[in-house]
Amino acid sequence: MTEEMKKIMVTGSVGQIGSELTMLLRKKYGNDNVIATGHRTQPKPELKDSGPFEFINVAKKETIEEVVKKYDIDTVYHMSAILSAVGEKNPHLCWDVNMNGTKNLMDIAIEYEMGQIFIPSSIAAFGPETPIDNTPQETVLKPRTMYGVTKVAGELLCDYYVRRFGLDVRGCRYPGIISNETLPGGGTTDYAVAIYYEAVKNKKYTCFVREDTRLPMMYMPDCLKATIDLMEADFSKLKHYSDFNVTAMSFSAGELADSIKKHIPEFGCTFEPDFRQEIADSWPNSIDDTAAREEWGWEPDYDLEAMTKDMLDALSKRHAEGNLGI
Ligand code: SER
Repeated sequence: MTEEMKKIMVTGSVGQIGSELTMLLRKKYGNDNVIATGHRTQPKPELKDSGPFEFINVAKKETIEEVVKKYDIDTVYHMSAILSAVGEKNPHLCWDVNMNGTKNLMDIAIEYEMGQIFIPSSIAAFGPETPIDNTPQETVLKPRTMYGVTKVAGELLCDYYVRRFGLDVRGCRYPGIISNETLPGGGTTDYAVAIYYEAVKNKKYTCFVREDTRLPMMYMPDCLKATIDLMEADFSKLKHYSDFNVTAMSFSAGELADSIKKHIPEFGCTFEPDFRQEIADSWPNSIDDTAAREEWGWEPDYDLEAMTKDMLDALSKRHAEGNLGI
């Protein structure tokens, strides 16, 4: 199949990753070939006006099926999920959306003989018993959050579908993703985004994890690159499918604040941990992504310094235009 013939559906297209991924895919494959879908939240004009948009509920199979039939979808990027912090507030909803959403999509992919689907996992698949530094690809997966439970079960289910049904499903364990277009919703790593917005707007931020909390992170351009590169890899050469470790950088919340202070010297950050501290403490400091590098050539472009400069440039410009969005 040529790239031009792809008919792509993005779930969670109103969310942090989905919104930017949809616009990138539209540029790459043509506006009308990328169907954005969401659940209730109204899409921004940019998303709605540049191509098709449909509301679905991934936990309800028939709502996905309608869109797949209507547009003859052959490729899915499944970006909708309930993240870790919201998942702890509502574990049943988290299971329903994340597990049933994933299974429904894969069952539909088989039924409609789709080409490929992308189903992301997360560093939330790891838990307190996992080696915390340079976490290996193959390791203990005993998460303590419902989000993490759904991610581990999702990885296992994806691999099962590859082996049992020959489905082409791929995914990576995203670290915390930092971006400046759409705010993340309900994750533990959200502080690493909010800190930039507050630094630009108010020159101060109260961070909900401790200063020494260190987590693996990635800037959005690298997240999009990882997603597209993995989808473009030769499936027959992959040894892993849906559970690739990927990372770009690791920093503590204190180091993040310091990187902002280099540009905004008056920026002040205080640290007041809440329930998300325990979640952050159960995740690795850094992860080893050798398998992704070897199997499909993964290589990130941004480190903390480059990301901070880019984030502050983008957000300062928007703030000056009165368009920061918070
Ligand atoms: N960013 C996610 C969260 O914090 C992790 O995948 O829940």
